[in-house]
Amino acid sequence: NRATDLAGRHVVISAGGTREPLDPVRFLGNRSSGRQGYALATTAAARGARVTLVAANSALADPEGVTVVRAGTALELREAVLMAAADADAVVMAAAVADFRPAVYAEGKIKKREGSGPAPIELVRNPDILAELSAERGREGQVVVGFAAETDQVLANGRAKLARKGCDLLVVNEVGAEKTFGSTDNEAIVLAADGTEVPVPHGPKEALADTVWDLVVDRLTGGTPG
Ligand code: C5P
Repeated sequence: NRATDLAGRHVVISAGGTREPLDPVRFLGNRSSGRQGYALATTAAARGARVTLVAANSALADPEGVTVVRAGTALELREAVLMAAADADAVVMAAAVADFRPAVYAEGKIKKREGSGPAPIELVRNPDILAELSAERGREGQVVVGFAAETDQVLANGRAKLARKGCDLLVVNEVGAEKTFGSTDNEAIVLAADGTEVPVPHGPKEALADTVWDLVVDRLTGGTPG
């Protein structure tokens, strides 16, 4: 029963896209609007869950009845998610997390270098939060869900990513210039570690969110709800 099947559960959702600062006015970012993560938050709340939404740079309004924690960078998002995940029944990483960040942050605005070429930007790897959460669950039986935006070989890449990350469910969608990012609709295949594959036809991000929660509920153990 979708009206109550998450009652007594604590779910943590990351949403939006991280921004990695280069200097006080510039950052490396991505086009994630936060819509899918916010849809996961509103649908989980509607199903009775206590919801913590870790929001990265989304312009969307805070959903009603949801605890919103703001995070700017991947490192901030990691802190906030790990903290909230400590007592969570499920964690869904819907945020687009930058894989890399600038190796140095310039305290002053970076200047054009007259006469010489553009300054190269050195990058370093950000931690993979989803892989970390999957390897070290905040609590026993916690269900961990990831998202994967792929432009080609969508299914093959998705399956490989599910195995590599070690999460329970991976929502795989195809992205392109006019697909998914910023849109109110989505189309995806949810891959489960047990081999289940659930195609979700093109539709509102809330419909995909409800399918994700159905699959999460199936995997929650009877244990004491968080
Ligand atoms: O490897 P890729 O970036 O495609 O994986 C996407 C999934 O991994 C998303 O669920 C995203 O939130 C998560 N992720 C993460 N930490 C990173 C990069 C991605 O948790 N540094």
